[in-house]
Amino acid sequence: MALASCKQILEEAQKKCYGVGAYNVNNMEQIQAIMTAAKETNSPVIIQVSRGALKYSNSTYLQYLMKAAIIENPDIPIAMHLDHGNSLETVIKAIELGFSSVMIDGSLMEDGKTISTYDYNVKVTRSVVEYAHARGVSVEAEIGTLGGLEDGVGSDRVHLTEPKLAKKFVDETNVDSLAIAIGTSHGAYKFKGTSTNLAFDILREVRALIDIPIVLHGASSVPKKLINEINKYGGKMSDAAGIPVESLQEAIKLGITKINVDTDGRLAITAAIRKVFTECPEKFDPRDYLGQARSELTNLIVLKMNAFGTVNHANDYIPKGFEEMKKLYISK
Ligand code: G3H
Ligand code: 13P
Ligand code: ZN
Repeated sequence: MALASCKQILEEAQKKCYGVGAYNVNNMEQIQAIMTAAKETNSPVIIQVSRGALKYSNSTYLQYLMKAAIIENPDIPIAMHLDHGNSLETVIKAIELGFSSVMIDGSLMEDGKTISTYDYNVKVTRSVVEYAHARGVSVEAEIGTLGGLEDGVGSDRVHLTEPKLAKKFVDETNVDSLAIAIGTSHGAYKFKGTSTNLAFDILREVRALIDIPIVLHGASSVPKKLINEINKYGGKMSDAAGIPVESLQEAIKLGITKINVDTDGRLAITAAIRKVFTECPEKFDPRDYLGQARSELTNLIVLKMNAFGTVNHANDYIPKGFEEMKKLYISK
């Protein structure tokens, strides 16, 4: 069985100091691209799904597509992870769908926009931890907020993480991994001007204070090549900018283990489809452009798996099932 919890995947990665990409999906081609890349590079992988993705796919379609990935790839540890869960109710639904891992983003209120208080965050996170751990499911939480409003996820105000508060939060909630805010934001427009600096001093301080895996949201690199390609074939994305790969590698060295990537996948798909439409206007079989998009997405993820150091770690350990994880939580 290839299904693994994020806790196990990330703790194994943390021990060996490499990063694991968590790739957002909405459809079959994205899941297939991720799995082809994971198989080709022998990498463990986290497939993550937002509330928007669940809504778009009517939950059941995505649930079974992810299960297909698990059946098709018995040798690859795969986590089915809920991204930016906004309430215990959403988390319960994800666990009922078979997710091995959930995020509760209590840094924002249930609307996914309004910045919450520390006390609210602790309260909602604790309730999720209690529910999820009793079922062998691991939990990611967040402290501090990212910038950038994207499709209702994320605040437009940035609050970088306070390291001492992060330590207090982990002690009070017993979460398995923690997302921190060090200057990234969701989407394709992360920086204005030329600066792409991240607050590595905060990351260093947090790493020194807590020992669970640390998560970086908003970690797409927004490759110039893809933006140029999109613009060349009729797109309009002039000021797009992301986190340079070198910064992500530095972040991994300093203690980031889970790297969230959604936007870069969207860009690879859009560039590929625009190119087919422009160069072959006679084509109308979706397989011609969705197939090309899937190949380009595979290539992108192979590059990321290499850059994050995930390659050749799929066989380092045997994925633990829900029952084993449940026992592990009870014993602690
Ligand atoms: O963190 C947000 C992810 O990019 C998911 O975006 O809510 O548009 O699916 P979405
Ligand atoms: P990007 O928008 O940088 O890809 O971030 C995705 C993310 O953080 C999903 O939770
Ligand atoms: Zn995110």
